[in-house]
Amino acid sequence: MAGKKVLAVFYSQTGQLEDVLKHCVSPLIKDEFTSITFLNIEPKTPFPFPWKVLDFLSVFPESVYCDKIELSEFSIEKSAEFDLIIIAYQVWFLSPSLPITSFLQSNEAKVWLKNKPVITIVACRNMWLTAQEKMKKLISENGGILCDNIAFIDGGNCYETFITTPRWLLTGKKDKFWFFSPAGVDKCQIAESAKFGKAIKNALHVDKEREKKPLLKGLGAVYVNEKLIMGEKVGHRSFLIWGGFLRKIKNPKIRKPILCFYFLFLICVIIIGLPITIILRIFLYPLLKKSFQKQRIYYEEPSGSQTII
Ligand SMILES: Cc1cc2nc3c(=O)[nH]c(=O)nc-3n(C[C@H](O)[C@H](O)[C@H](O)COP(=O)(O)O)c2cc1C
Repeated sequence: MAGKKVLAVFYSQTGQLEDVLKHCVSPLIKDEFTSITFLNIEPKTPFPFPWKVLDFLSVFPESVYCDKIELSEFSIEKSAEFDLIIIAYQVWFLSPSLPITSFLQSNEAKVWLKNKPVITIVACRNMWLTAQEKMKKLISENGGILCDNIAFIDGGNCYETFITTPRWLLTGKKDKFWFFSPAGVDKCQIAESAKFGKAIKNALHVDKEREKKPLLKGLGAVYVNEKLIMGEKVGHRSFLIWGGFLRKIKNPKIRKPILCFYFLFLICVIIIGLPITIILRIFLYPLLKKSFQKQRIYYEEPSGSQTII
């Protein structure tokens, strides 16, 4: 029996995504039948961590429009062939991070992904739906077939993470403080993720990946919070408008004050709009329940949220 080759592509700033990916694929690393090659994407000009506020804001327009940035040369031959591609990414401004979208616009991605089953792994604060839509498009433009998506979100609730995630990204501090939970994905969720690698390993042993259908159904690979769908869609629309405008301004002296103004405006909208949205949701949810459920099922595809014990 010929062994299987897996390519695992990732970019991680704090190491969280690398940790998530390596836990997920740990059964593949240990498996003698499978060889897994990691491709760590490195931007030619590294992004700083922790971020300075202005650096953080300045990647917003290009992230939203998935503009291509320069990457260091890949450590893998362009002619290499793989049976399965895994792409682990984080979300930047409701879009896949720039290093990952730039990888997906490279000539190598066109060769490696063509007609191959692809699994995406996303780890972010909690808003990944529009980013995943962009990943679906980029993967299919490379001829890849998305078979599964595994989503990890930060452990704190969506109000806490408004504070804890920016605190982490801007200061590097991830720990529990006052009444807030620690930032980042819950350690237990990461520890349990080897179940996905186990299912992938078993599928590779029986050539199931060749069917290019989901391999992770019944494992609770994703869970979409219906309450966040609307907010994410509205936010993304605003990002497209402002990002499109800001992207055209190349002079940093003009661009930076407009960026700051937009984000201050956004913070005010969130503070004022959040209680209104919560009240509206209570009244509108019974009327729109079916539409939200339909959307949840769509966004949870292809792996689904079901868990079969
Ligand atoms: C510039 C920037 C923008 C971000 N925007 C989002 C976002 O829109 N939605 C979200 O859920 N998380 C967002 N995050 C959090 C990241 O998705 C991720 O959780 C965090 O950066 C840690 O990833 P890493 O250390 O593996 O790179 C953002 C992070 C950065 C640095």
